Amino acid sequence: MSDIYDLVVIGGGPGGYVAAIRAAQLGQKVACVEKRQTLGGTCLNVGCIPSKALLQSSHHLEMAKHEMAAHGVKTGRVSVDLATMMQRKDTVVDDLTKGIAFLFKKNRVDHFCGTATITASDTVGIALEDGSNKELTTDNILIATGSKSSTLPGVDVDEKCIVSSTGALSLDTVPKKLVVIGAGVIGLELGSVWRRLGSEVTVVEYLDAILPGMDKEIRQRSKLILAKQGINFRLATKVTGASVMNNKAMLSIESVKSGEQEILNADVVLVAVGRNPYTQNLGLENVGINIDDKGFITVDENLQTNVPGIFAIGDVIGGMMLAHKAEEEGICVAETLAGQKGHVNYKAIPGVVYTHPEIAAVGRSEDSLKADDIPYKVGKFPFGANSRAKAIGDTDGFVKILAHKESDLILGAHIIGPGAGDLLAEIVLAMEADISAEDIARTCHSHPSLGEAVKESAMAVDNMAIHM
Ligand code: FAD
Ligand code: NAI
Repeated sequence: MSDIYDLVVIGGGPGGYVAAIRAAQLGQKVACVEKRQTLGGTCLNVGCIPSKALLQSSHHLEMAKHEMAAHGVKTGRVSVDLATMMQRKDTVVDDLTKGIAFLFKKNRVDHFCGTATITASDTVGIALEDGSNKELTTDNILIATGSKSSTLPGVDVDEKCIVSSTGALSLDTVPKKLVVIGAGVIGLELGSVWRRLGSEVTVVEYLDAILPGMDKEIRQRSKLILAKQGINFRLATKVTGASVMNNKAMLSIESVKSGEQEILNADVVLVAVGRNPYTQNLGLENVGINIDDKGFITVDENLQTNVPGIFAIGDVIGGMMLAHKAEEEGICVAETLAGQKGHVNYKAIPGVVYTHPEIAAVGRSEDSLKADDIPYKVGKFPFGANSRAKAIGDTDGFVKILAHKESDLILGAHIIGPGAGDLLAEIVLAMEADISAEDIARTCHSHPSLGEAVKESAMAVDNMAIHM
């Protein structure tokens, strides 16, 4: 017996669950099929949320060990209780994933726990948890199946000694030596967590700089700051293989420039070299859905695949692999299906690396503006000249705003510093609303606040900064 829906969403991550809720709000009969026991996808279960919980806990440790004494706060001997830290992280995840289940009930989204396969353009089969099967008939299907960690040839992940991000979020002891492969977002965030908890961390990166794709100045400054904190970087170095013996890993590495080879020993190796689309068992071939050469599902401007009525969003279609990008796309599809004008502004999607200090960016980098010959002005302001940053004792970094030379519209912004991720939101709004750098410069910001560094940076675009 087949149940009939307006929309069946496959995948209960930030793309899928947000789309399901928005479509239900707009009056559609919606089902969401998720193969994990809990909702929330990679983000809530093994991504954004557990990593941020551990970043916060380990930051408290770092503060207690190295920062609080300067504020006149004596702490005595500080140590790590890893079991409690992990338990707290699990509780945060548990609360939030249950919260999504509550929102599904509230909005009357039917939740099926099982693996979905598209069997026809209007039919989704589900292999349910209890071993039985179910079939849903639907007007539209939304694929939001996300991504999985990329692997490296010769480096076999066992989630004990050689781990993906999922394993690195649940280690039960602090490794003495941790080698991270990849100086991208995961490598730097989880490398920071374990360094703060006491590991000797070495990050091996194929390229000659960290954080590919970010503004060059930000990449340089962040490397200096993270290296000063104690992370060792081996740049322009490639990993050629790994072996495990007696719970220790041996990593073969090779200099990209000279070809010189070396062995690195580690208690744990974290493989963080990107993520691939997840389309296993989805049945794309049953209906002939097109994918690109990297396996990402291809979609048109309405996020519809080449099969009418089947849409795809989030990590599985590529682009910025971020939770909030997936959410925006989910809302776009739900609103399009309800006859509204769905829209995602890809030029104004922020990205934040939650190291300390945070690194946040939106829009164009200075290098890309130069490459495309776009005339621009730069406004920069250091946190060292911001009174709030001084007061809280967190002065590393700067705000950099790139505005169009003629129109003064903001083309990009890059912040490294305290609360960078939250500070960026104001600039993202300015970009979304097409207001100029001068509009931010002339907006009154409370004093003393970190936001004043954003204002001064906007003022600096036209050489009007006061405090430098
Ligand atoms: P996912 O969240 O991957 O959800 C897809 C869901 O589909 C999964 O739950 C999967 O089980 C389910 N599924 C797959 N196939 C089927 C099937 N056939 N049937 C039923 N269910 C299926 N992004 C940020 O914006 N901020 C961060 O701070 C951040 N931190 C991260 C930290 C880590 C360690 C990692 C790994 C990622 C992080 N990300 C972060 C990225 C973010 O998690 C992803 O961009 C986001 O989860 C993508 O959402 P999605 O809905 O496309 O897919
Ligand atoms: P990434 O793409 O950010 O970085 C991967 C790094 O590995 C790159 O620097 C790349 O040059 C390097 N690399 C690739 N192959 C290599 C090799 N053989 N040897 C050495 N280095 C190699 O990918 P990452 O860090 O795995 O993150 C995956 C995705 O998860 C990102 O796209 C990001 O969007 C998302 N994410 C977002 C977070 C956030 O928003 N705060 C946090 C964590 C993940």
